[in-house]
Amino acid sequence: MTNRNRRIFSRIARRYDLCNRVLSLGQEQNWRREVADHLPPGRVLDLGSGTGAALPVLAGRVVVALDPVAPMLSMSPIHSRVVGVGESLPFPDESFDSVFSAYVFRNLSSVDRTMKEIHRVLRPDGVAGIVDLARPIGPWKRRLHTMGTGVVLPVAGLLVGAPGEYWYLHRSLGKLAPPEALLGNGPLRLEQVWRMGPLGFVYGAVLRKPPLLA
Ligand SMILES: C[S@@+](CC[C@H](N)C(=O)[O-])C[C@H]1O[C@@H](n2cnc3c(N)ncnc32)[C@H](O)[C@@H]1O
Repeated sequence: MTNRNRRIFSRIARRYDLCNRVLSLGQEQNWRREVADHLPPGRVLDLGSGTGAALPVLAGRVVVALDPVAPMLSMSPIHSRVVGVGESLPFPDESFDSVFSAYVFRNLSSVDRTMKEIHRVLRPDGVAGIVDLARPIGPWKRRLHTMGTGVVLPVAGLLVGAPGEYWYLHRSLGKLAPPEALLGNGPLRLEQVWRMGPLGFVYGAVLRKPPLLA
């Protein structure tokens, strides 16, 4: 994680959940749930867990929260909390039945390294579920969305007292490849990608570690 990202998330930790809820029109937990519903029971790693907002949608599983920003983790209701980054997971091989990650992938310094690490810590036939924001598909929707976030996010930033941070969020949305390209070339099998939310600016993805051959 870059120092800039660490500063950003440390600064906005307290106001983060409320602002997220407002910006997603109250839908951010539904989008987490749509992805979490694809995960098997057992031990789940919540990668980039932040304040632990995903806990209700991961119910019934043993949840381990990982995040590089201690102030975010300190607000989390999840008991098992580990400071660390997705690019270098401090867990043994094949120690999780599933990995869940919500609204994190844009912030990673290396998606490739993180995918390799997720593959390593998943048991064979384990599942990863990812939800994140992206620019919509199609030139008009993308343009409309870029114009929208160029206005809405700086205003949200002013309201929570962190204008630079929210301008960064607007910029970061345009930087990443679409999820199919971002996630489809790693060691995990990409099983499903779908779009959610207005203009389809949120994606869900389900990936699987190939099972061992008998
Ligand atoms: C937008 S928040 C999402 C938090 C939480 N997953 C949720 O759904 O509310 C992004 C989180 O990703 C974390 N993060 C940033 N870079 C990371 C990395 N390289 N590895 C793991 N987590 C990271 C941040 O500290 C922050 O808590």
